Amino acid sequence: MKFKVTPYHSNLIKDKQRLSAFYEGISEYAEELNNLKNEEGLINKVVYDLGCGSGVLTYFASLYFQGVVGFEKESKIASYATENLKDYDNAIIIKENVLNLEGLQKADLIICEMLDTALIDEEEVLALNHFLPFKEDDGIVIPKEVVNFVEPVNMQRNNICWEDEDYKPNYEIIGPSLKYSEINLNEKIDENFSSNLELKIDKDSIFNGIKITTVTLITDKIVLGPTPMFNPPLFIPVDEIKVSKGDILNLTLSYKMGGGIESIRTVIN
Ligand SMILES: C[S@@+](CC[C@H](N)C(=O)[O-])C[C@H]1O[C@@H](n2cnc3c(N)ncnc32)[C@H](O)[C@@H]1O
Repeated sequence: MKFKVTPYHSNLIKDKQRLSAFYEGISEYAEELNNLKNEEGLINKVVYDLGCGSGVLTYFASLYFQGVVGFEKESKIASYATENLKDYDNAIIIKENVLNLEGLQKADLIICEMLDTALIDEEEVLALNHFLPFKEDDGIVIPKEVVNFVEPVNMQRNNICWEDEDYKPNYEIIGPSLKYSEINLNEKIDENFSSNLELKIDKDSIFNGIKITTVTLITDKIVLGPTPMFNPPLFIPVDEIKVSKGDILNLTLSYKMGGGIESIRTVIN
């Protein structure tokens, strides 16, 4: 199937690891409900895809479920998604900011792709929080959970940056990875994150940054680490200090999920 897309959504579609993980997650849920198939071979369940973009995940859901709705606030992208799904009677695209919607029928599956590292620059945090009341009690959200890790680094940059295919920052990891937060996407996300973290150092070096890596549980069985378009590792500079092997540093890290990189604060205690 050929999709009409913007350049940004085209890059999203080319990211095969991302697409296959979501496809498998949606298929896995459909498999569990296989006995509810109607005469047309579709499962009588309602699916919402929040921020559907080109509609590619809406399309995956439409292969299995009877009532699939993709929501997209940007007119041009919504019109592409409508065009892309025109042959699927069981799927519709609604051009609307989901934050403006109230009183909807409850969905059995809510798809809400969260693709920004640690959800910091992820505008869909608000969208999912707003839509959780429109999920059936036994319904699910895909992805299920976001897990974040932090590593102390010596980096040759003094501003916040992401590592992706076009840009690889120069850095050295100087201590072990620490799992510092787990966010259950089936519950309302508390957007304000703040935590005191103990970072171990295993090398004599200059500590001047942290690397954040996000791993997403699409479902319990499907785990997706960073891919070209999904959760690229994030580098955050911190006040520079000389460190020795065996040191333990206390770092307070805070940010607002959905608040953007401007909301990040770091303090070494
Ligand atoms: C990462 S992109 C698209 C991802 C999509 N799953 C795909 O594979 O193409 C996220 C989309 O969510 C849309 N979006 C963000 N917040 C929204 C909101 N509150 N209501 C509707 N759409 C929203 C953006 O316009 C953007 O097109």
